[in-house]
Amino acid sequence: MDKSSRLTGFYKLSLAERVDWLKEFAGLTEEEAKALSGAAGLGPDQADHMVENVVGVFGLPLGIATNFVINGRDYLIPMAIEEPSVVAGASFAARLVREGGGFVTVSDEPLMIGQIQILDVANPWAARFELLAARGRLLALANEQDPVIVRLGGGARDLEVRVLENSPVGPMLAVHLIYDARDAMGANTVNTALEAIAPVVAEISGGRTLLRILSNLADRRLARAKGVVPVQSLAHGEFSGQDVARGIMEAWAFAAADPYRAATHNKGIMNGVDAVVIATGNDWRAIEAGAHSYAARNGRYTALSTWHVDGNNLVGTLELPMAVGIVGGATRVHPAAKVALKLLGVATARELAEVIAAVGLAQNLAALRALASEGIQRGHMKLHARQVAIAAGAEGELIEQVVQVMIREKTIRLDRAEAILNKLRAES
Ligand code: MEV
Repeated sequence: MDKSSRLTGFYKLSLAERVDWLKEFAGLTEEEAKALSGAAGLGPDQADHMVENVVGVFGLPLGIATNFVINGRDYLIPMAIEEPSVVAGASFAARLVREGGGFVTVSDEPLMIGQIQILDVANPWAARFELLAARGRLLALANEQDPVIVRLGGGARDLEVRVLENSPVGPMLAVHLIYDARDAMGANTVNTALEAIAPVVAEISGGRTLLRILSNLADRRLARAKGVVPVQSLAHGEFSGQDVARGIMEAWAFAAADPYRAATHNKGIMNGVDAVVIATGNDWRAIEAGAHSYAARNGRYTALSTWHVDGNNLVGTLELPMAVGIVGGATRVHPAAKVALKLLGVATARELAEVIAAVGLAQNLAALRALASEGIQRGHMKLHARQVAIAAGAEGELIEQVVQVMIREKTIRLDRAEAILNKLRAES
């Protein structure tokens, strides 16, 4: 995608105009555009093949975050999320980082960890030795299970054996199969490989294997993003750029030091992360589990990002596990997810992982900037008022009229919205 993602006024277009714009931007077909807009897309019949006891499909708003430049390339970011302000926040923060040259991202090879639990081992350390001695045989057996991924350059890479000496039921072993999932998230492939090697693992260790399952603490598959914002770009209203930059650093320090704040700080990051993970048909529970367990990796839960002021720049970094795929799962089955991936134009799962890390960092910046200056309620109020007006039954131009009255009155409540609506309807 060579075109700029800096779309001034995109938010002012009508929904239909925005979709038309995207069609042009990403070369979408009529059918693809309909999948994005919700006019077509995932229907009950297709959903019936995806999970059990299906009775319908459940919708979420799909918004497009603008302004992202990542590693020198412009991206439009599809975000599926019910919370107001998230898409606007990401777009706004991406514009700030754009002024500092855009996000820079890197990521690990797509290495997943699969675990095999071994119990009843007479001598755990001797068993560990034997298992590691059989590494080549076990990796080869694991690789026989999925020749396609091996042909694509992925497959079993390594074997690690951990002795857990003090579990509630006594000592046990955890075998880790390190597996390169290439462009897949990898859960199915890894679980298949684990089940295939488990009988041999049991035989070699002389123990009893029980669980054979992927670990969601995908700390061999990290994605990292860095963003630089010129301090003067952070100035707004009565707040100087220096004040806001220092405030963001102090806000981060609070999260770095305190798990209660870190949980909310990271929640703000996950607002952006999950929205893209969902829009691209990926498993957001896996990403959530990975992010929070990684945030607690040193024994105390802490912030996933860092912020510091460096001369005239505010510099932020984010690092978190990012087990996402662009093949397999719902990514190529869900019609809107397929189009979301096309819109992103990512060539590999690693590229998607890096884009998501950049969005998480942008979201964090948007939240901290607001919190460390005017607070988030002012920006939220209008969006909240819109939701209340719609819930009261307002449509079309009436939505904005009801919103304006509620904001003027500083009363954003459903009963008030209904009363205003009735009055406006009676007057027209
Ligand atoms: C709300 O969804 C997210 C925030 O609470 C994040 C934060 O506090 O950093 C605004």
